[in-house]
Amino acid sequence: MGPIGVFDSGYGGLTILSELRKRLPQYDYLYLGDNARAPYGTRSFDVVYEFTLQAVKELFDRGCHLVILACNTASAKALRTIQQKDLPVIAPNRRVLGVIRPSAEIIGSITKTNHIGILATPGTVSSNSYTIEIGNFSPESTVVQHACPMWVPLIENHEHETHAGQEFIQKDIETLLEKDRQIDTIVLGCTHYPVLKAYLESIVPSHVQIISQGKIVAESLADYLERHPEIDQFCSKNSSVQYLTSENTNEFDTNASIFAADDVKSSHVSLH
Ligand code: DGL
Repeated sequence: MGPIGVFDSGYGGLTILSELRKRLPQYDYLYLGDNARAPYGTRSFDVVYEFTLQAVKELFDRGCHLVILACNTASAKALRTIQQKDLPVIAPNRRVLGVIRPSAEIIGSITKTNHIGILATPGTVSSNSYTIEIGNFSPESTVVQHACPMWVPLIENHEHETHAGQEFIQKDIETLLEKDRQIDTIVLGCTHYPVLKAYLESIVPSHVQIISQGKIVAESLADYLERHPEIDQFCSKNSSVQYLTSENTNEFDTNASIFAADDVKSSHVSLH
């Protein structure tokens, strides 16, 4: 038995982890942030795949039977290949899940106008994963995407609350809404973005809802574990959480608090 692995390029996945811990507190979790190589959002398909596979292997080596890619960019660019090509060879009895499908499944029941906006990294947007996945579950929906290449660097450098940072963010929101005035639901398709949720809600028109993924992913995982006792039996349940970072541990521990994780004492990991 082992913990549930939770992976992100950096800190963003902590927003997912905190909701997993609220919904499924009995499980053990092992978080891995590849901070040394973040951001992933502007990296090529091949590089995101290679880095994500290294992280998944590391989490498997540390006993995880189930790994959540708590990163939209990795879910968009690496998940399918890992599930279809790598897992059958390296770990046929282990599972890797992403964060895009759970959001795509539910979003059609939230929008009233059937016009959905997606804000995400350039990598997630160019993969078209949201458009494809939402199209599978809600074919009547119109999906409009906008890439926000500055948001992750702004957040990681604590500049998202400065005047200049907020101007960038506001401009991106305006660009998205100008593309389609019927949008009534905006999905934060990057796990870093929930730290901006309150600010975004204060600048969008009142009929526009901002949806972050944490609770949706947590509900979907709870359902998955119930339907898959053969995986659940390998997930240990002592309510513990541990953190790994490929960067400086002191810096990780301090910054983690911005992303809803207190009292973090991380350990260093080298990914290769
Ligand atoms: N948090 C990640 C996501 O959900 C990506 C951030 C990055 O660019 O590394 O897409």
